[in-house]
Formats: sequence, structure tokens, C-alpha cells
Amino acid sequence: MKTIIITGTSSGLGKAFFDLLTTRNFCTIICFSRRFLSYQLEIANYNSNVHLVEIDLNDIAANLEIVEKRLVDSGLLSVAGHVIFINNASTIEPIDKIGSFNVQVVSRSINVNFLAPILLTNLLTAQHELLNYKLTILNISSGAASRPIDGWGMYCSTKAATKMFFDVLIKQYINNPNISIKSIDPGVLDTPMQETIRSSECQQFLLKDYFNKLKEVGELKRPEQAAADVLMDLGL
Ligand SMILES: NC(=O)c1ccc[n+]([C@@H]2O[C@H](COP(=O)([O-])OP(=O)(O)OC[C@H]3O[C@@H](n4cnc5c(N)ncnc54)[C@H](OP(=O)(O)O)[C@@H]3O)[C@@H](O)[C@H]2O)c1
Repeated sequence: MKTIIITGTSSGLGKAFFDLLTTRNFCTIICFSRRFLSYQLEIANYNSNVHLVEIDLNDIAANLEIVEKRLVDSGLLSVAGHVIFINNASTIEPIDKIGSFNVQVVSRSINVNFLAPILLTNLLTAQHELLNYKLTILNISSGAASRPIDGWGMYCSTKAATKMFFDVLIKQYINNPNISIKSIDPGVLDTPMQETIRSSECQQFLLKDYFNKLKEVGELKRPEQAAADVLMDLGL
């Protein structure tokens, strides 16, 4: 049995993963999100393969017990032959000039984009060593992980740090055929994250016109398509 763990399923790409995966009945899905849409709650009510865990990833360190309860104590991992973790949740904020950062927004960026994937991965790899399930990790990265963008100091640096974390993990398990880890850039997507980008008033964010133009000329990729591509790549 495949168990798929996804973070951030309330909008954009994560919601598209949820929609596609809940139409398939070969897997258990565990979603970690700070909110769920009403139809997602309904699906979880009648589909016992769908587990929704409400958690603010900004508080991941303090709430690690909830995560352990839902993954480990519930027995969901011990019955899994193959665990697939899609690290999707992210925040683009703050879009701001370095020097004008707000401390809370900076720590939220670090917690959601960097700390949460580290702690979830730490738990899943520890459990892998005990239970020996096959483990696949897909990190949804971004072009911004390798390209500095004015005004995106936190997003670029947290996405870069997260990618490096997973690159180190690739090295750790290089000789283990039971674990595979990959980072992918899904392309520029037509999601609420892009709405936040287009509505930014930060003067330092010089690429805003570029992103406005992508929307205007219809060059943003549909999250449904991006999710389908990713799942196909994972053989799902
Ligand atoms: N959009 C793009 O152009 C683009 C390009 C390259 C890479 N990506 C990557 O693709 C992934 C998905 O992005 P998206 O465009 O779908 O973004 P999105 O529409 O903003 O969705 C982000 C998801 O993360 C969740 N999230 C944010 N903060 C959270 C928190 N504190 N606790 C729990 N969940 C939280 C959001 O929940 P709420 O709904 O509650 O906020 C939402 O479900 C991200 O990793 C992003 O870096 C996006």
C-alpha cells in the first residue's frame, strides 16, 4: 500500500495534488495543512484512506507530537509498503527589502519553508530505519532556489537551503535503493502564491512587471497540469 504525505493542500499545487490523488483508490493520503476546504473535509468523512491533519507549519517544532501521533502512533506508517512525501507547502512572504523585515514574518518563512520539511523528513527517515518501508521524497522547489530575486530574500534563501538539505539527504542514501529523493521546479504556476506576488507593493521587487505580464499573456502553468506531471513522474 502506498501512503502519500502532502503539506499545504488548501490551495494551488497542493490542492491539485489532493484533487488528483483522491480520485485514485490505491493509496492512503495524509495531508498536513493549516486549513481544509469544505469539500476536502467531506471527502475525508466518507473516504477512510484520506487523513487530514490540521497544523500550522509555522509551529511545527512545538507541534511535532501531533505529527508523530498521526503518523506513528496511528500505525499509518507501519502498514505502508511505500511512503511518498511531497514537500509542497511554502510561503513567498515577506516580499520586502532586506532591512525592512518583520521578525515574525521572517521566522514564519524559515519555519514553513525550511524547518517543517527538515523535521518531517527527520521523522520519516527515522521510521524508515525501523519499519523499512520504501521512501520517496519529492521536494517542490523553485527557480528561486538558485536565482537571487530582489525583494525575495527569504523565499530564495529558504528554498535554496531546503534544496541543499535534500541534496545532502541524497548523498546520505546514495547506496540505498529503498530511498529516493528529488527536488523539482514545477514552473511558474497560476496559484494564490502568484496573486500575492502580483499584489506586492514592495519597490525593491523589480520583477513584478514580469510576473504581471506572464499572467496577462496566459503563460502561467495550471496547477492541475503541474500536479499531473509530477504524479506521472512519480509513477502515480
Ligand atoms: N506558484 C508558483 O509560481 C511557483 C513556482 C515555483 C515553485 N512553486 C512552489 O510550489 C509549491 C506550491 O506553491 P503554490 O503556488 O501552490 O502556493 P500557494 O497557492 O500559496 O499554496 C501554498 C500552500 O502552502 C500552505 N501553507 C502556507 N503556510 C502554511 C503554514 N504556516 N502551515 C501550513 N500550510 C501552509 C498554504 O496554506 P494556506 O492556504 O492556509 O495559506 C497552501 O495550502 C511551493 O513549494 C512553491 O514554492 C510555486
